[in-house]
Amino acid sequence: MSINHGDEIADAVAPQRDIATDEGDILLDVSDLTVEFGGLAALDGVSFGIRRGEILGLIGPNGAGKTTCFNAITGVYTPSRGSVVFDGAPLGKVKRHQITRRGIARTFQNVRLWGEMTALENVCVGTDARHKSSVWGAVFRSRRFYREERDAVDRGMALLEFVGIAHRAGEKASNLPYGDQRRLEIARALATEPKLLCLDEPAAGFNPSEKTALMSLIKKIRDDGYTVLLIEHDMRLVMGVTDRIVVLEFGRKIADGKPKDVRENPAVIAAYLGVPDDEIA
Ligand SMILES: Nc1ncnc2c1ncn2[C@@H]1O[C@H](COP(=O)(O)OP(=O)(O)O)[C@@H](O)[C@H]1O
Ligand SMILES: [Mg+2]
Repeated sequence: MSINHGDEIADAVAPQRDIATDEGDILLDVSDLTVEFGGLAALDGVSFGIRRGEILGLIGPNGAGKTTCFNAITGVYTPSRGSVVFDGAPLGKVKRHQITRRGIARTFQNVRLWGEMTALENVCVGTDARHKSSVWGAVFRSRRFYREERDAVDRGMALLEFVGIAHRAGEKASNLPYGDQRRLEIARALATEPKLLCLDEPAAGFNPSEKTALMSLIKKIRDDGYTVLLIEHDMRLVMGVTDRIVVLEFGRKIADGKPKDVRENPAVIAAYLGVPDDEIA
């Protein structure tokens, strides 16, 4: 299997995946989202939507509120105002651990893996989140339990192949090179069969060629039918890969549009003034 056989891998990974990509429908609707820390608004009345099948870039200088926005969407922080509607239902009261079941998966700005577990085991934990056999099924080792175990390993391997690190399957996560750890985190998120994949600066710490390779992977993920929310502060990087871009500055949305329009937007250019060139153009 090569990295180009995306469709076959997708079939192996999620044969019954119900991501229903009627492209164009709003999948996530964020409205007036506000998060305050000690009276200071880290996110201030932010509204935007993500359509099924698109890659939405959420960009802005460091401290703009990008991660806070993720955290508010995924139930880590409770917003002081505003609403988040996902797949037609409000996420307001949804607890953090229920987010995965609702179909949202995320990676973190700082890699979070189970270091003592192998790469394959890390991914299988992701597929576990979707298992249907009950605790009793596991205790009594039901046929379904064994089938799900075997499926999880097959799907885990397919996912490692998909992100390009199948050769690392048996290695401890903590021993993987940094770039492979980032890919593993994405594989683990995909293992939960998310309707929405949220990536928080997945290319942080990468050199330019690693960044380009990662952007290709993100495109491939989208072409496979996923919807992606991509946080990145490197503007150039998101220009080539996103369908639409939302720009934050000091917790407020200052632009929302197609990459070429956002790039020419004076408010966006001003927000990025003073930011080192290698992070802009
Ligand atoms: N848990 C927190 N407690 C207090 N302030 C926070 C917390 N998380 C983020 N902030 C503040 O909120 C602002 C936005 O941060 P963040 O969302 O991490 O920005 P970005 O991801 O765009 O770099 C920053 O001023 C940051 O210091
Ligand atoms: Mg951040």
